[in-house]
Amino acid sequence: MRSLLIGLTLIVIAIAAPRMAAQKVELSIDASKPGAKIDRNLFGQFAEHLGHGIYDGIWVGSDSTIPNTRGIRNDVVVALKAIHVPNVRWPGGCFADEYHWRDGIGPQRIVRLNPNWGGVIEPNTFGTHEFMDFIDQIGSEAYVSVNVGSGTPHEAADWLEYMTAAQATTLEKERAANGHPAPYKVAWLGLGNESWDCGGNMTPEYYLDRMKIFSRFVRNYNPAQMEKDQMLKIAVGPGGSEQRWTEWTEAVMKAYQQHTWSWDINGLSMHNYTVVKWPPAFKSIGFGEDEYAQILKTTLDMDDLIKKHSAIMDKYDLQKKVALVVDEWGGWYAPLPGSNPGFLVQQNSLRDAILAALNINIFARHADRVRGANIAQMINVLQAMILTDHEKMALTPTYYVYKMYVPFQDSTCVPVTFEAGSYKHGDFTLPRVDAMAARSKDGKLWVEITNVDPHQAAEVELNVTGINAKSASGEILTAPKVDSVNTFESPNTIVPKPISARAHGGKLILQLEPKSVSVVSVEQ
Ligand code: AHR
Repeated sequence: MRSLLIGLTLIVIAIAAPRMAAQKVELSIDASKPGAKIDRNLFGQFAEHLGHGIYDGIWVGSDSTIPNTRGIRNDVVVALKAIHVPNVRWPGGCFADEYHWRDGIGPQRIVRLNPNWGGVIEPNTFGTHEFMDFIDQIGSEAYVSVNVGSGTPHEAADWLEYMTAAQATTLEKERAANGHPAPYKVAWLGLGNESWDCGGNMTPEYYLDRMKIFSRFVRNYNPAQMEKDQMLKIAVGPGGSEQRWTEWTEAVMKAYQQHTWSWDINGLSMHNYTVVKWPPAFKSIGFGEDEYAQILKTTLDMDDLIKKHSAIMDKYDLQKKVALVVDEWGGWYAPLPGSNPGFLVQQNSLRDAILAALNINIFARHADRVRGANIAQMINVLQAMILTDHEKMALTPTYYVYKMYVPFQDSTCVPVTFEAGSYKHGDFTLPRVDAMAARSKDGKLWVEITNVDPHQAAEVELNVTGINAKSASGEILTAPKVDSVNTFESPNTIVPKPISARAHGGKLILQLEPKSVSVVSVEQ
């Protein structure tokens, strides 16, 4: 009996053993062949007046016991500075098309409701000056979306004059009286949001008529933005792959091709959440491998969607003057039990870190057209970087991916070739590994490798030509389970750990744990 048990055990070990063996992956990088620039704006953030995204997440007020600078929480500022946020899209989202900027300036704020997001009170204590102060504190730039839905071109034009005029107009004096004599910089201007839906349910033709008027009259007067650093205008674009959005992209790009001197756009927005189906039902915590595989399989649809809309853009803009700006993306799951469903509260797991890496790599591979992206949303909402609860703060696995990817901001893509292999689970088959490489601004070569397989490690053989690669080191992000999360009580369950390659036979060998994201720099 005993020998039978031992025999059975050995058979089980023998069957299990190959699953544990590291999969070999050969990764070739030609460092002498540069590709497109990976615009730092691919790492943009999105902060809407929604749930605790602004209030509690950023704004606590200057009389709060939570340490703050002029009402903006210091812990959040320190964390965001470390990920070099290039721009923040604000005030929405759906909120933007009902936002009236005058409600949020001066000593007397207008208290309203927020019908899109839980019908709660919107105190407007966080308005233009507070947003610009926040941007300044984290060292970022403003991506302001104007109200094309329920607002007027006049209102939006006044807002831009208020923010950017340097000459002594009445609006400039009002801004100065409210505490900011110097003009603000508005780097990006959103001409509406989802105008085919929450932004006013418009047809493409109606939107175009309206958008052209906003494009013409909503001017930036900041003298520092006249020649260089001109404000980029982003038109509403598609929200998926359905026919109606194909038609939308066609209509806007066709109009762009025929545009005259009196209006222009520099970008077309695209929104694409990883949701599987609406309403969002997947759990953000307490899930297993089925949900891991299905969500990651679904998130890869981003690639096809970019290809589809880029192909339409190419028809009308071969020179790629108009950027595709994926200014809302990320995992959208069921609201956490007990939370206000209108607040879009969800946890953020290792799965989200891998989802973020896969999407950023897709953007980088399309860097010639995709020159902006804003993950939704920055704090406490959807796939957030940061979670807060009063004085407590936790950094999410997605935050750490953004931190590890900082060297890729404004880097230059370098071609990578590899045999991805496949990871299969149930009905889902995904590439086992993903990778990208780039040279950072200081000339250093950086490599990112994601091991999607939750069971098998990957032994990556880096074969670098074009430079004399001697070693590689960096960080790896992984966790015990696919749904591991950082909480206020255990904020360090998922944090990056050091990793380094060993040199062998003229190649660099990296051992990557299952379900991990790694970024290394190559030393010559
Ligand atoms: O990010 C939440 C919402 O999703 C945004 O307000 C809207 O633009 C999109 O539908």
